[in-house]
Amino acid sequence: MPLSRRHALALATGAVAALTVPARAGARPAPAPTVAPVGPGFLWGVASAGFQCEGSAPDSNWRRYVDATPSYDRYGDAVDFFHRYRDDVGLAAGLGAGVYRISVEWARVQPRPGEWDEAGFAFYDAVIDAITAAGMRPMLTLDHWVYPGWAAERGGWAHPAMVTDWLAHARKVVDRYASRDPLWVTFNEPAAYLLNETTNGGLPAAAVPVMQQALVRAHNDIYDHIHAAQPGALVTSNLAYIAGTAEPVVNGPMIDAIAARLDYVGIDYYYGFSPQSIAQLSPDAMKQLWTLPLQPEGIYYALDHYARRFPGTPLYIVENGMPTRDGEPRADGYTRADDLRDTVYWIQRALADGIPVLGYNYWSITDNYEWGSYTPRFGLYTVDVRTDPTLTRRPTDAVAAYRDIIAARGVPADYRPTRAPATCSLVDAPDSCTDPVTVP
Ligand code: FCB
Repeated sequence: MPLSRRHALALATGAVAALTVPARAGARPAPAPTVAPVGPGFLWGVASAGFQCEGSAPDSNWRRYVDATPSYDRYGDAVDFFHRYRDDVGLAAGLGAGVYRISVEWARVQPRPGEWDEAGFAFYDAVIDAITAAGMRPMLTLDHWVYPGWAAERGGWAHPAMVTDWLAHARKVVDRYASRDPLWVTFNEPAAYLLNETTNGGLPAAAVPVMQQALVRAHNDIYDHIHAAQPGALVTSNLAYIAGTAEPVVNGPMIDAIAARLDYVGIDYYYGFSPQSIAQLSPDAMKQLWTLPLQPEGIYYALDHYARRFPGTPLYIVENGMPTRDGEPRADGYTRADDLRDTVYWIQRALADGIPVLGYNYWSITDNYEWGSYTPRFGLYTVDVRTDPTLTRRPTDAVAAYRDIIAARGVPADYRPTRAPATCSLVDAPDSCTDPVTVP
């Protein structure tokens, strides 16, 4: 049934959100003149994913998508984390970070059905050893959108055996690493996973509900397995935050079905739109991520949204960051350091308002393969994959900024964001129009 006018209006005004997310009780609290630092237990981290940084990649759905798509950049060896993980872990430790997020790639540890590759596991053993030896806690993603070529061959998530095989792999990973006390992420951004699978041809559109149900079953099953192996474990599936009104439609079906098995809510927040900025987007904007507008205060709205949806459950920003085009200055003049400081300011504001934020990860420690392209750069350390065969990691201005933030447990008390909150941010419309966040 096509979306009726009434439904479209309801979406636009947030009436749908009200069905699943309790309304805010009263007006937003007025900001105090200063912001307090985060607590000493707050987790500061960096996030990455196997396929995007490792290189030396075995056959997988994504290797096949790259091979089949001439417009995608050739993958090469990404930023060769496979051989340089000690250096990159050292860079994160040098920031003072306490969490390092990686994914354990199914394609690397199970090259053929029923066959496990000890050398593949040995690589992850060594990475996790390096992370813990540097005094950090691993955050392990079980599925960051990549699965073995043999599973792709038979139809990926549309195949009836996918959940059983995925669980066989995931249980092995859990049993091997539970003693290292990782934080767990089951599926990275499930809604984006579904979208990527369909746009790359790994999943027929008609099979979207099949995959969605499979992800739910797999998440709920592995959640119980993780808790049996690691009492007190913290497990999530991180959601790509879209906008308050769209959340129940885009992320709602998954999150509602796994709500009973989430120890923390993982949120990825990047872009924020307002009516004006949406109107100015180019038709290619989704392929030119560096043109998407940034609204650092949107992270406050996203946290507030999920604090109301899951009262009392800790929230964790599993990914946040900012793209440039090949490391060039952005057209809006925003630097990585300013964006980071402004974002952290809004996290401190959320904490001050009683929103339980457990941690924050920067995406990413280095630039990497952005699902088909090396052009969007998200790294604290930049890497010129196309032109620099030495793959040297060069610090951006955000390296010193993040180091200072971690040491001081946030931005200084009298910090004022370099970027003012947007008018009527769609991240939280219509409340952002009638009751926006403000700075003192
Ligand atoms: C997120 C993905 C991550 C990376 C960042 C920029 O949606 O989870 O792998 O591509 O965007």
